[in-house]
Amino acid sequence: MLSRPRLGINIDHVATVRNARGGVAPDPVRAALLAIEAGADGITAHLREDRRHIRDDDMARLKREISKPLNFEMAATDEMVRIALATMPHAACLVPEKREERTTEGGLDVVGGHAHVAPAVTRLREAGIRVSLFIEPDEVALRASAALGAPVVELHTGSYCDAVAHGETAKADRELERIRTAARIGTGLGLEVHAGHGIDFSTGETLARIPEIVEFNIGHFLIGEAIFVGLSESVRLMRAALDAGRAHAA
Ligand code: PXP
Repeated sequence: MLSRPRLGINIDHVATVRNARGGVAPDPVRAALLAIEAGADGITAHLREDRRHIRDDDMARLKREISKPLNFEMAATDEMVRIALATMPHAACLVPEKREERTTEGGLDVVGGHAHVAPAVTRLREAGIRVSLFIEPDEVALRASAALGAPVVELHTGSYCDAVAHGETAKADRELERIRTAARIGTGLGLEVHAGHGIDFSTGETLARIPEIVEFNIGHFLIGEAIFVGLSESVRLMRAALDAGRAHAA
């Protein structure tokens, strides 16, 4: 029997709401604790260069206060590597970062960006932090990730989820197939395969049918849904969606 996929909850956008008023509420650490109580297997937070949501102190408090693995999402910069090494999260996920983007658009350039990604992978790994690379679901990026010595890749599911959201059925089918193929190739290369970006209950259920994906990292939709049903229920419903998908894995 296939194991349940792990559910990592990204709490960045609790901090986005907090920062809109410049105060202390809502507290992303409180959200993390509640998400864990509701069934999250881990917490993800992205400390961006511009600190637009998560701040240094949030990351330190998450590390101190949560009982489940912390996944530190970060750009492969010297500053972020230094902070990650001081924080010592369970995992670090290296992502591309452009100052003007609204969210992480596209995967890491593991081929062209090899020169600055490689030292970050090495320094984090040597410290005992599990490193994942957030990449587009394609074979070249997978092979480059394996060559960089990263044990984990997270496949960018944004194009698939966008196509579903816009009713672009043919594109969604193509993108889903790309993810399915990439998951298979990645596992074949000895990489652990995760997935994330833009996932809602429906796309979560569909993606969980891909047996090679062992972890999902989900944020924006879940935090938005929490406005309507509460955070615990939002996490619980996503857990149920992933489990329902995995029951039909093929
Ligand atoms: N995984 C990675 C690497 C990301 O950059 C993000 C977005 O911060 C997510 C997962 C979560 O995406 P979303 O907030 O769209 O669910």
